[in-house]
Amino acid sequence: MTDHKQRAAVKLSDYTPPAFRVEHIDLYFSLGEEYTRVRSRMRLCRAEGTDPHTPLHLDGEALELEALYLDGQALAIDDYLLTRQGLTIERVPDRFELEVHTLLRPQDNTALSGLYRSGGMFCTQCEAEGFRRITYYPDRPDVLSRFTTTIEADRERYPVLLSNGNAVDRGESEGGRHWVRWDDPWPKPSYLFALVAGDLHCHRDRYRTASGRDVQLAFYVEHANAGRTGHAMESLKRAMRWDEETYGLEYDLDIYMVVAVGDFNMGAMENKGLNIFNTQYVLASPETATDADFEAVEAVIGHEYFHNYTGNRVTCRDWFQLSLKEGLTVFREQQFSEAMGSPAVQRIQQVRLLRSAQFPEDASPMAHPVRPDAYVEINNFYTATVYIKGAEVIRMYHTLLGDGAFRNGVRRYLERFDGQAVTIEDFLQTMAETGGRDLTQFGRWYTQAGTPRLRVRDAFDADAGRYTLRVVQECPPTPGQPAKQPFHIPLAMGLVGRDGQALPLRLAGEPEGQATTRVLELTRSEQAFVFEGLAERPVPSLLRGFSAPVILDYDYSDDDLAFLLTHDSDAFARWEAGQQLAVRVILRRVHGERREEDLDKLRRAFAGVLEHPGLDASLAAEALALPQETYLAQQLEQADPVAIRAAREGVRAELAGALAATWRTVYSRYRPQGPWRLEPAAIAGRRLANLALGYLAATGAAEDDERVERQYHQADNMTDSLAALSLLADRDDAAAQAALDDFHQRWRHVPLVLDKWFRVQAMSRHPGALARVQSLLRHPDFDLHNPNRVRSVIGAFAQGNPAAFHDSSGEGYRLLADHILRLDTLNPQVAARMALPLSKWQRYDLPRQQIMKTELQRIAEAPSLSNDVYEVVSRSLE
Ligand code: PHE
Ligand code: ZN
Repeated sequence: MTDHKQRAAVKLSDYTPPAFRVEHIDLYFSLGEEYTRVRSRMRLCRAEGTDPHTPLHLDGEALELEALYLDGQALAIDDYLLTRQGLTIERVPDRFELEVHTLLRPQDNTALSGLYRSGGMFCTQCEAEGFRRITYYPDRPDVLSRFTTTIEADRERYPVLLSNGNAVDRGESEGGRHWVRWDDPWPKPSYLFALVAGDLHCHRDRYRTASGRDVQLAFYVEHANAGRTGHAMESLKRAMRWDEETYGLEYDLDIYMVVAVGDFNMGAMENKGLNIFNTQYVLASPETATDADFEAVEAVIGHEYFHNYTGNRVTCRDWFQLSLKEGLTVFREQQFSEAMGSPAVQRIQQVRLLRSAQFPEDASPMAHPVRPDAYVEINNFYTATVYIKGAEVIRMYHTLLGDGAFRNGVRRYLERFDGQAVTIEDFLQTMAETGGRDLTQFGRWYTQAGTPRLRVRDAFDADAGRYTLRVVQECPPTPGQPAKQPFHIPLAMGLVGRDGQALPLRLAGEPEGQATTRVLELTRSEQAFVFEGLAERPVPSLLRGFSAPVILDYDYSDDDLAFLLTHDSDAFARWEAGQQLAVRVILRRVHGERREEDLDKLRRAFAGVLEHPGLDASLAAEALALPQETYLAQQLEQADPVAIRAAREGVRAELAGALAATWRTVYSRYRPQGPWRLEPAAIAGRRLANLALGYLAATGAAEDDERVERQYHQADNMTDSLAALSLLADRDDAAAQAALDDFHQRWRHVPLVLDKWFRVQAMSRHPGALARVQSLLRHPDFDLHNPNRVRSVIGAFAQGNPAAFHDSSGEGYRLLADHILRLDTLNPQVAARMALPLSKWQRYDLPRQQIMKTELQRIAEAPSLSNDVYEVVSRSLE
């Protein structure tokens, strides 16, 4: 059996402070087509209190060392030790200058970490440990230094030369080359370093801060993408304003630059003053981007901007603290999105994502706490747990402390630790102090993995008018953590009277109160809450707003759920009630149980949503969407994704038929008239109309099939075009094929749109989807070098098409494993991510488990596997 412990794990408990500080680093890049030379000049000094004999160790990876000078003296080969991990100089003075010359070949860097090429440009990605692929350096986040960077390159090919901070000098050099020098006044860790060179279009604007300073804003894109940065620019200005108004934080440099690159492992990167973005989260125009894309651009622009404080001004001491910056920044991003749009819809979408991405992770061999305590490859820990469960943890501080104390706490944290690299503990302490609360037990959210389950039972004593809620909390074992201590859980709840009215909540011993939502604080494994003054048995509304990342278990009747869907005052709870009702109906089908009244219940519930007088189209679209297949699978001990697909599609088809007339009315009433506009009402209209179209596609009526085709051909925007195309991709008739061909023909030169063409087919609900994926992987436009393309075929298939991926033949697993092995030689980080669906093998039936494990084993045994993939597959098999 393979064992990830065979490869050295980094442990939180081994942390030691850096032995040397870098006071200043001056970098010189000479960029070339064959190779690039980097000269680094550093002023180093021994950290106070460090043993004077401690050697100097600098991290370095995949580098060619050309020369090394200590205080101007060239070092000979036996003055230092060079390994695959770096460079060690045994004896150094307390203060000295070190000059390092390295040679790189960015054009061969397919891992997209360090300095690499994307299209015609050079760019960098240094988080987490990419800087060591540029030069030898103490590449850890608790070493902060002042950077100056000079970039020299061919003037024609690379007219634009960018790095962090302000451009302070520029000039011409021999052979048609030029250079620009950048100075970043803010000390920063190496992971925030960035460099870009290329022939780029620039969209400029400016922003006046609250205190009246002018900041230049500059978005750089390849010329072909000019004209598609308007939305990102406006989003940035909104984010800057929002952070001033909400947290009193003003931007701290004279220029803010964003560069869009087509080859990028992640979404975007918050490099100081020079964000580098995946094109996916910058470019948006109505013809090429969906409403969801527009929304994602705004969110990611906000996210990276908010990092300027939560991450850059105050950074992480070590990578175990990653959620210190990511959880907090995702939460700030969520607050921003809630402020820009509908808070309830945002919350529903956040929870949907948490349940589809994080809960399964928490239930898998890859489960880890929000603050992990060991890793082999840090890139594997940019996870749903660290990011979005991390954000849920921040949201719970907000719930427990209240908005005012929360904001004061964040501000105090940023002031107290400005310019430092700190820990989650520092944040927690500051919040506890500011809120005047003991958060010791709350800290378990950072150290214990797994999704807690709340079992709620109730009793009503009619004579005493007393209603008791008894709550038991449990958390299943996770790797290395067989038993858990109780969590501190905020449980927001209300009670709804039989007439649908919210009831005042008065706990035993309390005076009269008017509150109709309260936050119960759970701290013990079992607790009871007694409410008094109730004339009749209420229906409890539990976990309002999804106040904690837990699984709630309360035995509602179907009628209770339908009742809450109509009457609950909390929009999230209403949505949740509708979803739970649908979950039940679909799961009964999975179990072969067909109840006559089931469909009727759902039909009435859905019709009720649509007939509601104050109908909010965007909320309705959420409420009428059937629960995702992955979420349904989680409700079962062992899932058969093919059976789940069949049951869910069966229910969809029946709802389509039973409500056909309604869907047609909704479709024509809500489809926005006139030209495309990015306005809340129009966006909501498109959502609801496209949801209706989705049902109509399942009626089997020719008129509805034609409606889908018509929408595809008449659409003047990508939202409507893609909604129709994805329904067509579920069919295999001539009209569907014609539309797919048309789309390819039209968009084959626009990579982000071509990704959509691949994605809709990879996610097709057609029974032949697996075969189609096989041919997509051989398509001339498929490219294993481009992460967006890989995600749009392999990722979409393995994560977004469970019934095809889990085909009982095992072909889906084999195909994935084959591609992981090929991808691992090019880009280990992305390869490891693609392997994650296999890590969830325990959730499926035994025959599937067997094949999944065989494929994991086959990957594990491959020679020269990267640490990235090795860690995922070996943990999965433990
Ligand atoms: N720090 C980036 C973010 O969350 C994500 C990222 C991590 C990007 C690692 C690249 C590499 O905004
Ligand atoms: Zn982030």
